[in-house]
Amino acid sequence: MILVTGGAGFIGANFVLDWLTQSDEAIINLDALTYAGNLQNLASLQGNTRHTFIRGNIGDVNLVASLLNKYEPRAVINFAAESHVDRSIHGPEDFIQTNIVGTFRLLEAVRAYWSGLSNEARQGLRFLHVSTDEVYGSLAKGEPAFSETRRYEPNSPYSASKAASDHLVRAYHHTYGLPVLTTNCSNNYGPYHFPEKLIPLMIVNALAGKPLPVYGDGQQIRDWLYVKDHCSAIRRVLEAGRVGEVYNIGGCNEKPNIEIVHAVCALLDELCPRPDGRSYRGQIAHVADRSGHDRRYAIDASKIEHELGWKPAETFETGIRKTVQWYLDNQSWVSNVQSGAYRAWVEKNYQGRV
Ligand code: NAD
Ligand code: TYD
Repeated sequence: MILVTGGAGFIGANFVLDWLTQSDEAIINLDALTYAGNLQNLASLQGNTRHTFIRGNIGDVNLVASLLNKYEPRAVINFAAESHVDRSIHGPEDFIQTNIVGTFRLLEAVRAYWSGLSNEARQGLRFLHVSTDEVYGSLAKGEPAFSETRRYEPNSPYSASKAASDHLVRAYHHTYGLPVLTTNCSNNYGPYHFPEKLIPLMIVNALAGKPLPVYGDGQQIRDWLYVKDHCSAIRRVLEAGRVGEVYNIGGCNEKPNIEIVHAVCALLDELCPRPDGRSYRGQIAHVADRSGHDRRYAIDASKIEHELGWKPAETFETGIRKTVQWYLDNQSWVSNVQSGAYRAWVEKNYQGRV
């Protein structure tokens, strides 16, 4: 079996759901259920004996040690993190605690477990750390996309904390020989994406008749990947990635934010037209920019493609259509995540930007 952390969040839940349809192996899912973790994402697994959910913190060494010793997983995949740049600007502390201290403690627990295994099991174990392209900083127009050898230049408390965790993972391989793999992926989108991030926020605000807040000029570029493609890349790296290596994962879909918002509006115009017949585009509102906003991310995914034969299955057009349709079909999921805490966050982040 495998141990997944953060498997009640956006990417982790998609990974768990996909894994259980594609493999016979069971999953232990350790998640602290922060505001971003949601057991409804895993509701379809109720009664599935191959999925065991444990509520707990990756920084709880005793808990992690007991899970490792009890279940003896052959792999640990670390999705658990604080993941939202704007929240890291308002309050970096949780990012330091989970992304740096939490990853450190998780590594310590896994190292202790791994040290006690037989030689064969030691060689077979994998610690796969899920990270982001944001650790590389911001690209200028025309600069080549991020390769795995690109210098780390994180600019936000979020990306700095993820960069620190990547360095710890690297050091545990270099110093102790822990068999690690690291993936650095571009922006994901798809089902179960918490509506604090650009794409789901635009969909839910549009449907609620609220403004669509575009930061600054909306010309910041991200490289978008459908979440199921990220999951397939992680499965492939786990299966065949070389120990100690880093693999960049991306969709070759560089787009300015404003184009993303236009695409969402066009799909909603088609699939769920406004009662007054006007386009959702009329709701777009340019608001004050994010502090230290990275201008452009782009991933060079040639290593994973050439070495491991991985390629995304979705284009942006197919992926965004599926995503918008999923939000239209799952409006009760959306209303359930829009708790009082969610509303308080929206007020904090957008008040004063207009
Ligand atoms: P998310 O915020 O949706 O989910 C994070 C999950 O981790 C939640 O379920 C939360 O409850 C859990 N968690 C948080 N702190 C924890 C702790 N201390 N112990 C145990 N569980 C904890 O994040 P996501 O978008 O699914 O991202 C998952 C991973 O992928 C993160 O490491 C993130 O840095 C990385 N990543 C995300 C993207 C993206 O576009 N979302 C892109 C590249 C990489
Ligand atoms: P986000 O989804 O927060 O991901 P990240 O910052 O990790 O790339 O934001 C994606 C892009 O969208 C980023 O350039 C910031 C921008 N953005 C907006 O313009 N308005 C918004 O309300 C949000 C949340 C993001």
